[in-house]
Amino acid sequence: MAKIGKAAAKERIEFLKKELERHNYNYYVLNAPAITDFEFDLLMSELQGLEKLYPEFATEDSPTRHVGSDLAPASQGGDFAQVPHRYPMLSLGNTYAREELFEFDNRIRRVVSVPYSYSCELKFDGTAICLTYRNGRLLRALTRGDGTKGDDVTRNVVHIPAIPRELHGDDIPEEFEIRGEIYMPYAAFDRLNAERAEAELEPFANPRNAASGSLKLQNPAEMRTRGLDCVLYHVLGENLPFKTHTEALEAASRWGLPVSEYSRVAAGIDEAVAYIDAWDTRRKTLPFATDGIVIKVNELDLQRQLGFTAKSPRWATAWKFKPEQALTPLLSVDYQVGRTGAVTPVANLEPVLLSGTVVKRASLHNKDQMDLLDIHLGDYVYVEKGGEIIPKITGVELSKRPEGAVRPAFPDRCPDCGTPLVRDEDEARHYCPNNETCPVQIKGRFIHFAGRKAMDILAGEATVEALYNKGFIHSLPDLYTLTREQLISLEGWQEKSADNFLASLEASRKVPFERVLYALGIRHVGEQTAKTLARHFGSIDALMAASRDELMQVEDIGGTVADAILAWSASERGRETVSRLREAGLQMSVDTSSQMRLSDRLEGKILVISGNFSISREAMKALIEAHGGKNSGSVSGKTSWLLAGEKAGPEKLKKAEKLGIPVIDEARFHQLIGE
Ligand code: IVH
Repeated sequence: MAKIGKAAAKERIEFLKKELERHNYNYYVLNAPAITDFEFDLLMSELQGLEKLYPEFATEDSPTRHVGSDLAPASQGGDFAQVPHRYPMLSLGNTYAREELFEFDNRIRRVVSVPYSYSCELKFDGTAICLTYRNGRLLRALTRGDGTKGDDVTRNVVHIPAIPRELHGDDIPEEFEIRGEIYMPYAAFDRLNAERAEAELEPFANPRNAASGSLKLQNPAEMRTRGLDCVLYHVLGENLPFKTHTEALEAASRWGLPVSEYSRVAAGIDEAVAYIDAWDTRRKTLPFATDGIVIKVNELDLQRQLGFTAKSPRWATAWKFKPEQALTPLLSVDYQVGRTGAVTPVANLEPVLLSGTVVKRASLHNKDQMDLLDIHLGDYVYVEKGGEIIPKITGVELSKRPEGAVRPAFPDRCPDCGTPLVRDEDEARHYCPNNETCPVQIKGRFIHFAGRKAMDILAGEATVEALYNKGFIHSLPDLYTLTREQLISLEGWQEKSADNFLASLEASRKVPFERVLYALGIRHVGEQTAKTLARHFGSIDALMAASRDELMQVEDIGGTVADAILAWSASERGRETVSRLREAGLQMSVDTSSQMRLSDRLEGKILVISGNFSISREAMKALIEAHGGKNSGSVSGKTSWLLAGEKAGPEKLKKAEKLGIPVIDEARFHQLIGE
């Protein structure tokens, strides 16, 4: 660290302390980090260095000495009871530098004179959880909180299928704690963010934020739709019979608790480093986010001997993966208008290779984000892929700013129809309010309506554009009046393409009501909300007749969604659209003849089945669907579980192992669906 005078050090320490506290709050409470973990760790290590140099300025309340708190203040809607932790819930020392791993090992060797081994584990990027089991039953689940007390989130945690409420075995201690991480696999994260984008909610920045945001949901039932998973990695209690950490986790696994299948014991630091090297690449194939590797002294008596610092154990450390970043010039900014009029700034970048793909565009989210980055045209910007679908710009390299560079001007009028933009009071977004005649909005509504998850009509962007430009379509029901002649008149269309299109229109008449409702494109009504509303009201007429109070009584429906539905139901366009689509023969109510829904326990899960079960495979598939799950024929990164029966296919099992997809048997499946 560069030498720095005492007065300057004092000032810098004060600044860093405030800055780190602010980022802790953004990260743990708001679930909306403003900087990357790497940048945070850099600031933290600078503060540690300065406090070492000037111990007189190292105060007890420094963020170097306590963990960031996730306790939600009442102003953030936090109404969870706060419960003291029996054992403090600490953090881990971390490093990005290889030599520090050897220093860590040297520090241990100075204290410990007997042979020891390391448990090497993935560092799951989620949110920490502490579970207490008493007499084999889940008693309580606490967040890390401020390390001494946590939020009691038991009512939410019971909806996470991976966490058993009851354990099995005859050697379960009367009471023990087990700590771990609740995380959101990429597939669930992508789904949730797509759903949020549909409903025009800010997407979560990464799976970690999505997991911790979900854990603090006020409505436990919504938890079930979030696809959260859990892995446990630390057993604690009085007089437990285990000699090693690994032994304790093996026992936990036998009792039915989810532990990582990727952990390995290393005989020394060299083997631990080899594990780290192997996972540096391999982690990219995992279906969930990891941000490093944790190495822990495996022998519990040695752990006790080594003890703790104020903030972390001396017997463990975390190797953090550096985020892959690219630095590239910002060429221009486009302003895209969505089907509901929301304006999104999108950066056009000089193409650059990042984690194996060429990145040309990155979302800038909204005007506030552009201001926060203080982005200028021609700036070299840092781009990262943090598990998100679209890469994001995380910073600007000021030293490379071209002279005279200007900020991109955020438009005050719609780039498509010229209407002055408006900004909703409590939203960071700008909107084009011209819903009726703004061409991008109209075309956007058709693209949404025709989408695979909506009416599944063979009409992509180009077709919609062509039909609109010809003046054939203006409002959604116009699609159902299109003639074969009109279609053939489109450039490049032949009889075959016209017939295929008409066949897909015909098939769309059978699309179930919940998808029709989603296809209508009512603001804030995403796929999941449409399902909930369809199930609750049963028909479009009942939904359109519902009062605000009646709407708000529905699970997961808040004031914003209710108001959007009321506005749509009262609008001329809404009424006309429904009446004409009904005439065209679309499903406007739930088909009660279809199979009964038994539960939502598998909502959002994709299961692949293989082998023989106690019931027929067809019956098994029906059971999965009746609990809200989906069947798929082949194992992929999107698979939630491989349900393996007797004589399950070896290829499927191999693929699941390779991709890290959990394999469950029939008994576990019945547990999952609550039977
Ligand atoms: S052990 C006292 N093991 O990383 C030691 N932590 O940055 C407790 N984490 O607070 C932690 N994977 O939330 C441990 N295999 C693993 C982990 C892990 C993820 C989290 C945990 C911890 C944080 C530190």
